[in-house]
Parts: sequence; C-alpha cells; structure tokens
Amino acid sequence: MTIEAVHDYAYRIYTQDKSGHGMDHINRVVALCRHIIADMPADADIDSDIILTAAYVHDTIDPKVVSDVPKARQDLIEFLESQNYPAEQQAEIFHIIDHMSFSKNLAQRQELTLNGQIVQDADRLDAIGTIGIARAFYYGGSFGDDLYDPTIAPRDLTIEKNYRTHSTVINHFYEKLFTLKEALNTPAAKRIGELRDERMRSFVVDFISEWNGRP
Ligand code: ADP
Ligand code: NI
Repeated sequence: MTIEAVHDYAYRIYTQDKSGHGMDHINRVVALCRHIIADMPADADIDSDIILTAAYVHDTIDPKVVSDVPKARQDLIEFLESQNYPAEQQAEIFHIIDHMSFSKNLAQRQELTLNGQIVQDADRLDAIGTIGIARAFYYGGSFGDDLYDPTIAPRDLTIEKNYRTHSTVINHFYEKLFTLKEALNTPAAKRIGELRDERMRSFVVDFISEWNGRP
C-alpha cells in the first residue's frame, strides 16, 4: 500500500461533499493524526498505516457523504484488497470508522484500539476551535438553521431521536462542541483541545454579547 493511493481514493469520494466533510476536513484530520503520532512515546503500540488510512477513509461510508452505504463499504473493501492490506488491518480500519463517531458514542462509549483513539481525537479536534466554529455555521447554514434563538433551550443529545433534528447553531456548541474536550483520549489531543475549547467559549461569549447589542 502507499498512503498516496489512499489519499487519491479518498479525494475522489470527498470532492463532491458540501456538508463540511470535504477533503479539507480529511486533510486536517490526517495532519492532526501525524501530530498526535509524533507526540506518542516511542514504544507506543500504534500502527501509522492503520491510523492514516482510517483517517483518510473515515467518512467514505457515512450516509451524510455517500448515498449508497453498502456499495461504499464494498468499494472500500475492494480498494483495501487492491492495496494488499492484510485482513487483520482491514478489520481494524472498519472497526475504527464504524465506532469512532460522536453519534455512535452517545448511548455508550465504544472501546477503540489506541490507533482508533488517535483517529477519533483528530476528527474531534477538527470539530472544535476556530475551524469548529466555521464548520458549525457552514453546516447549520446548509440546513437553514437559525444562528441563535435564546428562547430555544439546548437539547439532550443522548436521547437518540434528538440527534439528527435541528435547533440553532449556538445551541450546537452547548449540545456537542463544548463536551468534546472531555472525551479526548491522548495527551497531545488533550492539550490542543484545551486551547481550542477556550477559543470557542470566548467566541460564544462575544457572540451573545454582540447579539444583545453591546458594543
Ligand atoms: P459525527 O460524524 O461525529 O456524527 P457530525 O457528522 O454530526 O459528526 O458532524 C460533522 C460536523 O458538522 C462537525 O463539525 C459538527 O460540529 C457539525 N455539525 C453537526 N451537526 C450540527 C448541527 N446540528 N449544527 C451545526 N453544526 C453541526
Ligand atoms: Ni470526520
């Protein structure tokens, strides 16, 4: 396998996406994975091929990105086969991308391998901070959600039927984005998460202040 081939496979699938899961998101997740890997102890039980491949393909079987999920899964199996990934690596990559998402971890926390924890951290870091702010408004805008409505209380997303319904973009910070920092796994991600969480909280404070007409 080469990581360039994985990049090219991912690129073909994500270039169509307009929901904030485009190739720019994927490239940032891969870059964050590399950063976390570099920070891990030398004897850590990790496999960069598995981590980077899972990072590149993590949204290629997501119904938000592809219309035919069973076909997308089959395409991914065939791609990994064509790149001679051993069966065990293929199984771990599928386990990671099937269990890492926020929505899959609402009812109960899923057990991930250390490789999976790194991909999950990188994906979550890209949902917070300054990029996280931009993605939330981009996503909300694509569904016509309001910026903010102080009369609508944030919802409890652990109640599954609430997850894919819509409230306001500012509520999304309280419902999801402010909770992500606590869910990070690795030391490097926790440090970055601390910084990014502060940026979001300061943004929301300023937003509400300006919303209320303060200079
Ligand atoms: P996951 O794949 O973990 O379930 P999502 O696909 O729900 O995550 O989220 C992808 C991106 O879109 C994230 O940056 C997230 O914060 C943003 N997003 C998801 N739902 C909303 C929403 N209701 N309002 C604003 N942004 C959202
Ligand atoms: Ni993602």
